[in-house]
Amino acid sequence: MVSERRLCCAVVGATGVIGREVVSILEERGFPVGRLRLIASGRSAGSTMSFKGELVMVENLATVDFRGVDVVFSAPGASVSREFAPKAVAAGALVIDKSSAFRMDPDVPLIVPEVNPEAAFRHKGIISSPNCTTIPLVMVLWPLHRAFGVKRVVVSTYQAVSGAGKKAVDELLSQIVARFNERPIEVRALPHQIAFNCLPQIDVFREDGYTLEEVKLLEESRKI
Ligand SMILES: NC(=O)c1ccc[n+]([C@@H]2O[C@H](COP(=O)([O-])OP(=O)(O)OC[C@H]3O[C@@H](n4cnc5c(N)ncnc54)[C@H](OP(=O)(O)O)[C@@H]3O)[C@@H](O)[C@H]2O)c1
Repeated sequence: MVSERRLCCAVVGATGVIGREVVSILEERGFPVGRLRLIASGRSAGSTMSFKGELVMVENLATVDFRGVDVVFSAPGASVSREFAPKAVAAGALVIDKSSAFRMDPDVPLIVPEVNPEAAFRHKGIISSPNCTTIPLVMVLWPLHRAFGVKRVVVSTYQAVSGAGKKAVDELLSQIVARFNERPIEVRALPHQIAFNCLPQIDVFREDGYTLEEVKLLEESRKI
């Protein structure tokens, strides 16, 4: 019997919406994790999270040495990814990044496994994952494109508050509680009240009238 090599994995942004989901999927799917390192900012360093029934302490990214790490699942936000990922690659790790930092970099494959898995093998240390609306869109479009050739697509998306991260989810909860207790509603993470509401805008508006979210969808789907 061939024994499977177990990998040293790290999750950067482990305490966030995406990071927590990655940790739970690694566990759920029996990914061959030898050691798991959970990494976030100084704010949550020292706290613990559970993986396969054991508590793992969260490390501070600012002091992490990536030598010995095989795969980094990265979701700390674009500016942080841009800074730490090249260092992790130089230390020998493969970085799979969930932020927008490297998506349009011509040297970085932008992968949806159901559509272009083969492109992942051309990586130079970083593999990027698209925006959360691009992924289901291209999964639907790709077979249609192969069968008929897609010329034009009209897209409407209805997105969850969790797409804006844990701050937005916490804000939704606190606004609901405030509303039921007849207290004033505070707006910080999102541009307007989100409880009992729907915002027809994701990310900032550009000069051409598109939002950044819409532009990501256009550019990323073409690259994939
Ligand atoms: N949420 C989604 O549905 C979704 C979908 C697609 C892509 N993304 C992208 O994935 C990335 C993460 O999104 P998210 O929703 O998971 O965000 P989030 O809930 O706000 O989590 C951010 C994570 O990054 C960590 N972090 C923040 N600043 C850091 C720093 N300076 N150094 C180290 N760690 C830092 C936070 O740690 P602390 O606990 O220490 O603050 C937390 O673990 C973003 O680029 C986002 O655009 C998100």
